[in-house]
Amino acid sequence: MTPSAPAPSTTSAQLIDGNALSKQVRAQVAERTAELSAKGFKPGLAVVLVGDNPASQVYVRNKVKACEDVGFHSVLEKYDASMTEAELLARVEALNNDPSIHGILVQLPLPKHIDDHKVIEAISPLKDVDGFHIASAGALMVGEVGFKACTPYGCMKMLESIGMKDLRGKHAVVIGRSNIVGKPMAMMLLAANATVTVTHSGTADLGAMTRQADIVVAAVGKRNVLTADMVKPGAVVIDVGMNRNDEGKLCGDVDFDGVKQVAGYITPVPGGVGPMTITMLLVNTLEAVERLATQQG
Ligand code: GUN
Repeated sequence: MTPSAPAPSTTSAQLIDGNALSKQVRAQVAERTAELSAKGFKPGLAVVLVGDNPASQVYVRNKVKACEDVGFHSVLEKYDASMTEAELLARVEALNNDPSIHGILVQLPLPKHIDDHKVIEAISPLKDVDGFHIASAGALMVGEVGFKACTPYGCMKMLESIGMKDLRGKHAVVIGRSNIVGKPMAMMLLAANATVTVTHSGTADLGAMTRQADIVVAAVGKRNVLTADMVKPGAVVIDVGMNRNDEGKLCGDVDFDGVKQVAGYITPVPGGVGPMTITMLLVNTLEAVERLATQQG
């Protein structure tokens, strides 16, 4: 596959397998972790969960397990939903000052009485491996060193895996403008030289936009946002959505069965972007340690 040409559509798109790609990247992370640990720089990630949101409990368990698998030091701090904002801010400050911790992740959503924004901004930008801090968002915007938000970073890695690293001449259409996916996704695509259109609930004719796209990234959180008639033959379709269908089965934002007949490449749900998000969290944590190791010689 050359970087400039997505495969022409046949009857069915090629899958971009997030599990297989994750396995490759995690093996590289594990190898580098062993080298750094031998030099006294064992990567450490702290995951903080407040309350008992069932989905969050699964996510944090998966994150901690992924850390263990690659040889990181990991800490899971679980607190009751009654924890105050001041108590959480004090925990974040303690983790900022803990030399065994290189990355801090406070699982969202937080209970309603805690201000998410205030907590994220309390995390040291040097340990912001989620890439949610304003300093990280700003660094991405101006092309400075920071941490990239894990989900869009994982999407970029998936594009790279099919030879699409330099996106010069490509038109990418992002559906959704959230701070944690849509906006950073647009910035990363732009940094890779794509021409980028960001669409959202205020877009008049979404299909007219997506039909022009060589790459579509759907990140809305709503089923069937992208259907086959909205896709240019051979386009690359990345599905960030995580929804449940009427039978309770996990599905994305894309009408997978329809779109796979038209697209050149497509990511499945589950087994697509999902595993890549955790993988890029590991990559960011490793990167935090690499920077420290370089600095400390
Ligand atoms: N909640 C859902 N996804 C995420 C994530 O990637 N990071 C954090 N901190 N919270 C989340």
